[in-house]
Amino acid sequence: MELFEEKFKEAMISKVPLLNRITHYIVRRKGKQMRPMFVFLVAKMVSDGKFDERTYRGASVIELIHTATLVHDDVVDDSNRRRGFFSLNALWKNKIAVLVGDFLLSKGLLLSIDNDDFDILKLISVAVREMSEGELLQIEKARKLDITEDIYFNIIRQKTATLIAACCGIGAASVGSDDDEVEKMRKFGELIGIAFQIKDDLFDYSDEKIGKPTGIDIKEQKMTLPLIYVLNNCEASEKKWLINSVKKHNKDKKRVKEVIAFVKQKGGIEYTTSKMEEYQQQALEILDAYPTSEYKESLVKMVNYVIERKI
Ligand code: IPE
Ligand code: IPE
Ligand code: MG
Ligand code: MG
Repeated sequence: MELFEEKFKEAMISKVPLLNRITHYIVRRKGKQMRPMFVFLVAKMVSDGKFDERTYRGASVIELIHTATLVHDDVVDDSNRRRGFFSLNALWKNKIAVLVGDFLLSKGLLLSIDNDDFDILKLISVAVREMSEGELLQIEKARKLDITEDIYFNIIRQKTATLIAACCGIGAASVGSDDDEVEKMRKFGELIGIAFQIKDDLFDYSDEKIGKPTGIDIKEQKMTLPLIYVLNNCEASEKKWLINSVKKHNKDKKRVKEVIAFVKQKGGIEYTTSKMEEYQQQALEILDAYPTSEYKESLVKMVNYVIERKI
């Protein structure tokens, strides 16, 4: 990870001083770097510890794209905090955040192109397309407020799980795995990614200090699993009150708190947690087929961390 960070930093260099100031800021406030860890651990598990420059590049591409999507996501969600400090849009405004996101995206793609890593480029490009579609589908559903559980899972699979699927697929592809193994690892990453986003959506219902705002999903009219479950399991009059709260009172802090309390009281958190654990178990089952190794053990810990993490 230390070597990775050096390479990651290098991948962001530009001739424009403003850009370098901003990317310097990004590197200083790094996140959990879970995605590169998945790239490395999967590469090592499937190849018995071997990996090379292609694996490092794969990890850098992933973290560049991830960073780009966070920068854009905070513009889309109108969110002013990220990783315990101000978001780029809060500090430099939307105009600059949009362009910095584009810059990081192009740097990521070029890192693969310039090194002829076309298999990696394909895996990452699919993820980028799916992420944009997922975020747009989410906006469409936020406008119509007609989301179902199936659509929720589709949204989170697209906006979040495909990138983690790409991490695991790229980890395998970077060390020369065949198509079947790449696909198996992609599936493994997809399951983790779904559990990961469910955890993120649960955070939004808590008051914990996670380095970014909580309670903003309803404000943005994002209906996530705890609320969807309760909508399907309450009286018609309660449902009307809930929908009306999200539709017309989503900026009213007191009303949003009441909705959150109602969702908790009706078992929305327990239901959502049990769904998250189902995905965790399915991901662990894929690992079962691999022989014992320190890499596999670390991957098991990472899967469990996704569910148990505090930020
Ligand atoms: C945040 O991802 C975006 C989601 C998909 C929920 P992370 O929680 O991995 O973000 P960092 O990189 O650690 O800040
Ligand atoms: C994940 O959704 C966004 C991306 C896939 C970039 P959220 O909007 O819930 O992520 P956070 O909570 O802002 O990190
Ligand atoms: Mg967001
Ligand atoms: Mg969130």
